[in-house]
Amino acid sequence: MKYDGDLHPETLMLGYGYDPKRSEGSVKPPVFLTSTFVFPTAEEGKQFFELAYGLRQREPGEDPGLIYSRINNPDLEILENRLAVWEGAESSLVFASGMAGITATVMAHLAPGEIVVTTTPVYGGTHYFMSRMLPRWNMECQWIHAGSRFCDELESLLEKDAERIKMVYVETPANPSNQMTDLKRCVELCARFSRDDHKILLVVDNTFMGPVFQQPLKLGADISLYSATKFIGGHSDLVSGAVLGSQEMIGPISEMRTIFGCMASPFDGWMMLRSMETVGIRMEKQQANALQIVEMLKVHPAITKVYYPGELGEQQDAIWRNQCSGPGSLIAFDVRGGEKEAFLVLNALKLCKLAVSLGGTETLIEHPATMTHSDLNPRDMKLAEISHSMIRLSVGIEHVPDIIADLNQALDVL
Ligand SMILES: Cc1ncc(COP(=O)(O)O)c(C=O)c1O
Repeated sequence: MKYDGDLHPETLMLGYGYDPKRSEGSVKPPVFLTSTFVFPTAEEGKQFFELAYGLRQREPGEDPGLIYSRINNPDLEILENRLAVWEGAESSLVFASGMAGITATVMAHLAPGEIVVTTTPVYGGTHYFMSRMLPRWNMECQWIHAGSRFCDELESLLEKDAERIKMVYVETPANPSNQMTDLKRCVELCARFSRDDHKILLVVDNTFMGPVFQQPLKLGADISLYSATKFIGGHSDLVSGAVLGSQEMIGPISEMRTIFGCMASPFDGWMMLRSMETVGIRMEKQQANALQIVEMLKVHPAITKVYYPGELGEQQDAIWRNQCSGPGSLIAFDVRGGEKEAFLVLNALKLCKLAVSLGGTETLIEHPATMTHSDLNPRDMKLAEISHSMIRLSVGIEHVPDIIADLNQALDVL
């Protein structure tokens, strides 16, 4: 994919991939609410299908052609081109949800008998899919704790079972504890244990930091994926997912998306195009607010621990500095006590909204142990370092003293 000169992604978000001449000069892309597209001639319809179904290779400069909105749609294509800019990706796909992107990616690249090695904690839905559903198709998930020791343990597993391990799936920072896993070392390990006929893929869930503060493809990962519901959508008003990588990696996932029919709708695609214009300034402002909130949380007597990049100890900080350009806006913290005390705080908040999800313009707060991560059994919960005193905060763009005042008055009930 070619980008316009040396323009920065934030500049490209305002127009890249859209030609006003093709839409009556409209400065913004319209919403292409259509299920199907008229072929200029029968011959061209035939050619479009040949490409879409992989019946032949694309000729140089050949337009893939619009067919049917389960296969392709202009709003999704423009959005996919823009998303790809941030990570320098060759190809990208948007989905009906983050989980649709994650499940399509794993199902496209894992075969029965093969293993995916996954960080824990991961988002609860990903955990459910990997632990409860993959075994139905004779696919196995092995868990390693996210964080500084992940790569040592991964190396031991690869030494024993590299032939069966097909994928390493890393969520970094991990949801909700913000544990960072060393992506460059993961890239090196996957390459070292791959063979010509058995490539071990590194897949990274980049939802927490991306696309602005971390770009896994630039670090050498094979696939970078997102719950686009979060920072990409950014306004808590839609559910979507995105998957980025080389054409070779994305091809089989595209086949899954076409046949499972789990693509994003044109309207959601259009909403995300609009959101992408502000993703940079939103994420910067949310991060600036989070940095101030962390300073307040660190000294509050009702709090025993704060989980935030840059505050997680020397080894964690080294990994974070090496692969991210900022700490982001997700904070977790433990209150003194347990579930009862955490609930007292959550129920006392007036401005911060008690809701799951993250990355939206407003501050959201939740209790991972009984909400987003409640399906983990006690052993997995312990391994994931999620306690009943933990609260997760997704910081919004409000005037930060207002958020701080709200948190202070709620924490003061303890
Ligand atoms: C890190 C992470 N990955 C994936 C998902 C799943 O995304 P979605 O809810 O859009 O399906 C979530 C949802 O909260 C998440 O936090």
